[in-house]
Amino acid sequence: MTTATQILSQFQATGVQTCFHDRHINPQIYASLNGGNWSIKDYEARGGYQALRRILGKDGSEGLTQDQVIATVKESGLRGRGGAGFPTGLKWSFMPRSFPGQKYLVCNSDEGEPGTCKDRDILQFNPHIVIEGMIIAAYAMGISVGYNYIHGEIFQTYERFEAALEEARAAGYLGDNILGGSFSFQLHAAHGFGAYICGEETALLESLEGKKGQPRFKPPFPASFGLYGKPTTINNTETFAAVPWIIRNGGAAYLECGKPNNGGTKIFSVSGDVEKPGNYEVPLGTPFAKLLELAGGVRKGRQLKAVIPGGSSAPVLPASIIMECTMDYDSIAKAGSMLGSGAVIVMDDSRSMVESLLRLSYFYSHESCGQCTPCREGTGWMWRVIDRIQHGQGREGDLDLLNSVADNIQGRTICALGDAAAMPVRAMIKHFRPEFEALIRNKAPQAATSV
Ligand SMILES: Cc1cc2nc3c(=O)[nH]c(=O)nc-3n(C[C@H](O)[C@H](O)[C@H](O)COP(=O)(O)O)c2cc1C
Ligand code: SF4
Repeated sequence: MTTATQILSQFQATGVQTCFHDRHINPQIYASLNGGNWSIKDYEARGGYQALRRILGKDGSEGLTQDQVIATVKESGLRGRGGAGFPTGLKWSFMPRSFPGQKYLVCNSDEGEPGTCKDRDILQFNPHIVIEGMIIAAYAMGISVGYNYIHGEIFQTYERFEAALEEARAAGYLGDNILGGSFSFQLHAAHGFGAYICGEETALLESLEGKKGQPRFKPPFPASFGLYGKPTTINNTETFAAVPWIIRNGGAAYLECGKPNNGGTKIFSVSGDVEKPGNYEVPLGTPFAKLLELAGGVRKGRQLKAVIPGGSSAPVLPASIIMECTMDYDSIAKAGSMLGSGAVIVMDDSRSMVESLLRLSYFYSHESCGQCTPCREGTGWMWRVIDRIQHGQGREGDLDLLNSVADNIQGRTICALGDAAAMPVRAMIKHFRPEFEALIRNKAPQAATSV
């Protein structure tokens, strides 16, 4: 068993080290990972499916009860890696285990947040860790059917996951009477169709049911009214991938690997103006400066201007603030942004904040599902105002107008896409107002430069 101290010393010794995902994922080792290491044989050789054997008592032990599994996950401090950072053990405890009908488990592998590219790598290079995590979750919540909803534009990854499912079934880890015991769990892959909104959990459920992917009003929450109206637990791919390590090593070891209230490691997808963009798995609480260093620093020796720390929905932070932060939910929230999905978009001093915001606002306007008026109309309105500023036709009062439209979207919509569209606009104006004002005053159309 690897202790948390061993993990941390490995990390300190080498800068980046493998934690629960078996290896640090980085562009330089993609090629070797592609060689077949994803297979069940390799996964078992790395200790894979030992956690499942453990909970089912197939390793000579007494096994773990459902309550013990949930208590271990609670103790680990694992927070959902899909964006909101909701405590996973607590979510699992909401599932009404005694519900007499069908209950469902769903993995959210839709991963459409601009900047995020971690889940596809986990599925591509380590699919069995997600399968094992889901089987353990299903056992803990008494669920017999699960789906992994995979982003529609990564069909190769979908096929890889299907192949891994076949291997797990053939080995007796999935299906009826797992490892000869009384627990059964059927797991299927489903692919999405490339709409960002289908990552929102209730839109995902609608899409899985074969309908148009539009978010539902909450409450009721999926734990009581989920897939086909039945109790359902939904977690992100990376969240499930954390579970086998937690069971094998204990909740306390996982918690110790991060910092209080921010247990474990997190994969950050670092993109933009860095020398070595890629996925970096580091303990939560790692200083941002260290993460930037791991990604090779700012490209071509330029100065850091700003960072979007948690995917395109997260408010931007100027260099002076992000350089003081550690990469965990609490530190980034205190700085006025959010850790979100862990997509770290780095912008150097050549970047135009106006043009960057123009791209972001177009994305949200395009991806709004159109159900709520503030989001449907407001996202398009914000985009058009930013577009005219960018093209030298900004008007006096446009920044106040943008803030006012954002105010009228945020908190007034069915799902959080409205907030995700409004928050970046407000943050960009708050931190980079002079840049916007200069463009409005000078009325000079800008050349394209942004990420
Ligand atoms: C517009 C929108 C898009 C989202 N996209 C994703 C996504 O691609 N993947 C994901 O795991 N969660 C996404 N979420 C968050 C999910 O609704 C949900 O909170 C998450 O899957 C729960 O898993 P977790 O508790 O493990 O984080 C999105 C939310 C919103 C509002
Ligand atoms: S906030 Fe936007 S994306 Fe979400 S339900 Fe309303 S219109 Fe659709």
